Amino acid sequence: MIRPNLLVDSHGRVLRDLRISITDRCNFRCMYCLPETEAAQNFYRGRWANLPDSNPIAHQWQPKSAILTFEEIERVVRVAASLGIQKIRLTGGEPLLRRNVEELVAGIAKISGITDLAMTTNGFLFPQKGAALRDAGLKRISFSLDSLDRANFQKMTGRDGLAEVLESIRLAQELGMNPVKVNAVIIRGINDQEIETLAEFAREKNVSMRFIEFMPLDSAHAWKNEFVMRGHEILARVQSRYKLQSVTSNNLSETAKRWSFGEGQGELGLISPVSEPFCGHCNRIRLTADGKIRTCLFSVTEHDLRSKLRSDASDEELIAYLQSVVWQKEDRHHIGEPEFVAPERSMSCIGG
Ligand code: GTP
Ligand code: 5AD
Ligand code: SF4
Repeated sequence: MIRPNLLVDSHGRVLRDLRISITDRCNFRCMYCLPETEAAQNFYRGRWANLPDSNPIAHQWQPKSAILTFEEIERVVRVAASLGIQKIRLTGGEPLLRRNVEELVAGIAKISGITDLAMTTNGFLFPQKGAALRDAGLKRISFSLDSLDRANFQKMTGRDGLAEVLESIRLAQELGMNPVKVNAVIIRGINDQEIETLAEFAREKNVSMRFIEFMPLDSAHAWKNEFVMRGHEILARVQSRYKLQSVTSNNLSETAKRWSFGEGQGELGLISPVSEPFCGHCNRIRLTADGKIRTCLFSVTEHDLRSKLRSDASDEELIAYLQSVVWQKEDRHHIGEPEFVAPERSMSCIGG
């Protein structure tokens, strides 16, 4: 079949956004992603979540040889850009654990057609890397910050790192990477009591705070519907304190419904993939650190691009392969439906 020089799926969506996980490793153990800490285990077990009896074996990271090199990643971006991809978001695991990540950023920033280059990080190592990343061409950054309470932050992430992440947010603003986005996954019974404080933080610090519904993407498959704080519940809580104004956007593929405080400072975003799926306008594909293409966060099949990259395939062959894979992109996720099967790999492997 002849297709235009674009990545188009069989539902008529044109893909513009490639999210690349550059390592599966992480220095945090977030409860919604890698719930391997005692605190996470106790929380989920106490609520009859579907956890195995024994502690899950600590994560097996991929060997270095399985992970795409910077040259391989840059080649994929070049080929993807020739097919209309405009946005790149680097994720992990924790992307700042990848040595010399600023060299990769510089390489991607030079690729013609890439107009937007962003990163999602837990922020722990950003104070050491921020200036180099900005100088290399990183334009935008999102930090995970699920709690403003030091003890609760540690419980949720397995790391006593609140001070470092707060410093990272300040530094990113100072470096001009505005608007800085902050991701807070709200888990009922863990951090829902902090919604108002997190909202106030957005206003006070002039950041875009995004409240994200907990999705079934944790490595222990501990997710249950009861843990999800729905976007509308979160919004109602914040609206009872602040007079919010809806922010209109002409970007249909945006994941967040946005709200401002009406005073020009700070913003809130509600990302509600469970209660209000936004799959119809999804323009994203994902590349895992070990070189697999995922056409949806919830794909149960992955497509092995790495073997193509390592078998002397020409750019034309890569183009044909990417186009055929993207054609098969799922129309939507099936969270909450009886036949739903959670993907085997957690968010730490897939990338946020
Ligand atoms: P940009 O437009 O690149 O700034 O991205 P964004 O505003 O969508 O934010 P970001 O990439 O940080 O994504 C925020 C969160 O939304 C992710 O960490 C996921 O939890 C969720 N998310 C992003 N993309 C998808 C998606 O395709 N499907 C679902 N179900 N959730 C998503
Ligand atoms: N549900 C929703 N969001 C998640 N993230 C990671 N795991 C989950 C999950 N189970 C998001 C976090 C983090 C980003 C990398 O991915 O917001 O910031
Ligand atoms: Fe948390 Fe991200 Fe690490 Fe997962 S990959 S444990 S979301 S910091």
